[in-house]
Amino acid sequence: MTAFAQFLDDHPAYSATAALDALRMTEYGRLDSQGQAYLDYTGGGLHASSQVREHAQLLNEHVFGNPHSANPSSTDTTQAVERTRAAVLAYFNGTGEYTAVFTLNASGALKLVGESYPFAAGGRLLLTVDNHNSVNGIREFAGAKGAVVDYAPLTAPELRIDTSAMSTLLARANPACANLLAFPAQSNFSGVKHPLALVDAARDLGWHVLLDAAAFVPTNRLDLRAVTPDFVTISFYKMFGYPTGVGCLLVRNAALSRLRRPWFAGGTVNFATVQGRLHVLSPREAGFEDGTLNYLSIPAVEIGLRHLDRVGMDTIHTRVHCLTDWLLTGLLALRHSNGRHMVRVYGPATSTQRGGTVTMNLYDPNGHLLDYRRIEELAGLERISLRTGCFCNPGAGETAEGLTEDDMRAGLAEGADITLPRFLQVMQRRGGKSAGAIRVSFGLASNFADAERFLRFASGFRDQATLTIGAVPFDIESCRVIRDGS
Ligand SMILES: Cc1ncc(COP(=O)(O)O)c(C=O)c1O
Repeated sequence: MTAFAQFLDDHPAYSATAALDALRMTEYGRLDSQGQAYLDYTGGGLHASSQVREHAQLLNEHVFGNPHSANPSSTDTTQAVERTRAAVLAYFNGTGEYTAVFTLNASGALKLVGESYPFAAGGRLLLTVDNHNSVNGIREFAGAKGAVVDYAPLTAPELRIDTSAMSTLLARANPACANLLAFPAQSNFSGVKHPLALVDAARDLGWHVLLDAAAFVPTNRLDLRAVTPDFVTISFYKMFGYPTGVGCLLVRNAALSRLRRPWFAGGTVNFATVQGRLHVLSPREAGFEDGTLNYLSIPAVEIGLRHLDRVGMDTIHTRVHCLTDWLLTGLLALRHSNGRHMVRVYGPATSTQRGGTVTMNLYDPNGHLLDYRRIEELAGLERISLRTGCFCNPGAGETAEGLTEDDMRAGLAEGADITLPRFLQVMQRRGGKSAGAIRVSFGLASNFADAERFLRFASGFRDQATLTIGAVPFDIESCRVIRDGS
């Protein structure tokens, strides 16, 4: 039996996603014509050729001018932008309940919330240890305004939110003050899907909730009638590859009036005077969209959403789930000739409540860490695109590796030019811990050949010790995630 036949036997649902194989040939043919295995969908999605063609045609058929006027070219632009805004709200089932603010990216949307949320003494910001740095950065706004900042820890080795600690921290809010909980729907480090039920649970205790959906929406449907966070942040290139430079903040209308912009800009005011030193902010989304929108790219978002709808989110989700399950099983089964495991996977070992992001490190037969930067180079030589480092999510990495506050202090003692590679050297001296890892992730255009290619690449490190860094072995067997029944 071939590996693919065995895979189909074990994952019968995959057959129902065959339309994606045809699509890969017609829309993503550049992958196979260039022999590329793209495994960084959590970094960025890939666009279909037709998205670019359709967008080029739209641009070539219209005279799109700056939207801040009433002339015909401006009106055409405004119509295209507003049609896209309506399409975004409809896609997430938020029409009537939410306002869509276009931003540069998810980070831009997060910064809008951070700078506009009415943090004050007596109020709180609660973050999960698993968060992208663009969410962690909100603590600077909160702290500067006197709010208490807390982190809810993760469990190890699964890297899920510690629900008991979370309940304790949520209970600390004074509902009369402004309290914000921010967490990712899906981790960009471990692929863990965090419980969306937290949104209602936190609201009941007096919190507003920011759901960072950037890593979730490329392979899952977010229905804003079923889950109702106050703020949702998204980057469209992660969903369908093109365009880059456009993201979105979805604000629940009930929460919109709580936000206070700290400044005004061109495009955000109905009226401003120099002599009177006053301004009147525009209502709704217009008060948040500084300057001139990326008005030529925004209509490509509607094209991308239509593409996703045609492909079907359920189909994408099923395919990614099957490939992730297969790869996890394969990686965790890899052993050196001496019987020791080759791969340490961070986060859940099964595909339950997790998405298609798999983060790991490889070890030599004696438990020494293999240098993930060299592994990335070697993968590149085989035209495999993967990611290494800490993926802008230091908290998840710290929990995954069991890095302590002392470890972090030892790193910071290196001085202002501390970098991840230097920190890794420090950690190697302090017990062989890693700082940083290898991440592969699946998405819309992934197929079995991509997954198989990576597994074959990883298995090539069997019995190899040449890429070892550091002299201290790590006891990989002691911290392996446990699979059901093993
Ligand atoms: C979970 C998560 N949140 C936020 C971001 C920030 O997105 P962007 O870099 O597009 O602003 C990312 C990017 O990787 C992410 O994965």
